[in-house]
Amino acid sequence: MTDISEHGIARGLTNYGDRAFALYLRRSFIKSMGYSTAMLERPVVGIASSGSGFNNCHRAMPELVEAVKRGVLAAGGLPIEFPTISLGEVFLNPTSLMFRNLMSMDVEEMVRAQPMDSVVLIGGCDKTVPAQLMGAAAADVPAIQLVTGPMMTGRHEGERLGACTDCRRFWGSYRAGKIDRKTIDIVEGRLATTAGTCAVMGTASTMACIAEALGMSLPGTAAIPAVHADRLRAAEASGEMAVRLIHNPIKPSQIITPKSVHNALRVLLALGGSTNAIIHLTAIAGRLNIPVSLELLNILSDSTPVLVDLKPTGGMYMEDFYAAGGMSALLRELKPLLHLDTLTVTGETLGERLAAEKGEWADHQVVRKASNPIEPVGGLVALFGSLAPGGAILKRSAADKTLFEKEARAVVFTSLQDLSERVDDPDLDITADDIMVLQNAGPTSGSGMPEAGYLPIPKKLAVAGVKDMVRISDARMSGTAFGTIVLHVTPEAAAGGPLALVRNGDRIRLSVKERRIDLLVDEAELALRREQLPARPVLAQRGYAKLYQDHVMQANAGCDFDFLRAADKSK
Ligand code: FES
Repeated sequence: MTDISEHGIARGLTNYGDRAFALYLRRSFIKSMGYSTAMLERPVVGIASSGSGFNNCHRAMPELVEAVKRGVLAAGGLPIEFPTISLGEVFLNPTSLMFRNLMSMDVEEMVRAQPMDSVVLIGGCDKTVPAQLMGAAAADVPAIQLVTGPMMTGRHEGERLGACTDCRRFWGSYRAGKIDRKTIDIVEGRLATTAGTCAVMGTASTMACIAEALGMSLPGTAAIPAVHADRLRAAEASGEMAVRLIHNPIKPSQIITPKSVHNALRVLLALGGSTNAIIHLTAIAGRLNIPVSLELLNILSDSTPVLVDLKPTGGMYMEDFYAAGGMSALLRELKPLLHLDTLTVTGETLGERLAAEKGEWADHQVVRKASNPIEPVGGLVALFGSLAPGGAILKRSAADKTLFEKEARAVVFTSLQDLSERVDDPDLDITADDIMVLQNAGPTSGSGMPEAGYLPIPKKLAVAGVKDMVRISDARMSGTAFGTIVLHVTPEAAAGGPLALVRNGDRIRLSVKERRIDLLVDEAELALRREQLPARPVLAQRGYAKLYQDHVMQANAGCDFDFLRAADKSK
């Protein structure tokens, strides 16, 4: 038997009070799986697999794992796959966000507790990549992120369809009576037709790009379609790189730094990316004690152009982004705005990567040149004011600019149930000029902060042709959605924030120019209403729901659990 080192299968021995016995026992048990002694001498690469029958976006997981294993074996490592929780966006009740922190704890603890020298994290659907990066950042074992990749588009009567911006567009047409039941049933089968994540610049695609911008994924891999052979080659190369990460250790804490987080914010803004990504990036950075403030977001947003023409901001799909040059093309255009001395999993700096890719072809119809942007300023903007003292988010690149400076009457829905019961009531007192407000859909509301901020246009207005209205809530919005929608209002209504004090008929003022969102009600009246707020109900008595209820933080803190943030070493 070899000496008891702290590497490979000998890492982190089970505690029997006799280390030699623990290693002897571990080796004898792992040999029951047919490994040779020589194979067990190799460094170990864990493969965190998040495949599940409840996650269509991870359908290709088995062949990705196989390709990663190939890369690890070829580089002299021993690949060992292990399962973690999987979060399939549309299969979870009440919302996938509620379970992101649970998955991150699973990843962190299993990476730390099991014997692996490095890990390949395979995820894709919206919350899985954030959860894996949060867990890896906290465990701080050398790690590389591999995404499952986006779906290809489908076709309906000659038109390209991609989940899920087109899902919403067709559903809007159905609600407005423009298409019938038979058509919507046919479209249902044509929206999501391959393995992979949503085909537009939704949350999954945005987080894949952010993982690459941070330096946690191999260069050029974020946008490769799930079913493309390049995706398997990326998996093989990720396995190979995971072995190199053992010999030249680079930990997530060396890659995810204030500078790489700045780069990731620039990329998010230039993509016109998902509003959810700001929550996830804040949570990932928080695991390494790196603050991400909404004030910083605004500063960067004012000097970052939108360059990528993908739905829901533009007209194309992820497969077009990949064919156009993908993240390499985007990073080259953003180069003057980026910190180039940040490290990537390859051991190269971002500057070295971009120098090596200099002069490569790009389709500037899809990834615009910095001199010819889609929008001169970033896709997201934070708003502050008496309605959102802790901030709120608007995706200005996917909103109707004619609604950006507006004062109007509030029409209030007090909960998700109230919204679903009354929004289509023909007698609802509402006009297209009003501002719709949804309360009690934030992190601690019991609803798990759902993607309900995209309030449906009331049916009577939709039928009359209204396509957009100002909508305000403490909820989130799918990255695939569009509209003049103010989200993540902080503090949320359930925590007694000013949003809880809004009443039907109040005046609200939105000014994107001034970055403000204000409730125009005098302070004496608000104080009275505050006193009348009901006591917060106890929503959960036990289990994970109670842990969540007791510890989840507000949107501007990334909705992480307070006890999972990195300790502030300055205190
Ligand atoms: Fe998984 Fe959209 S449902 S990425």
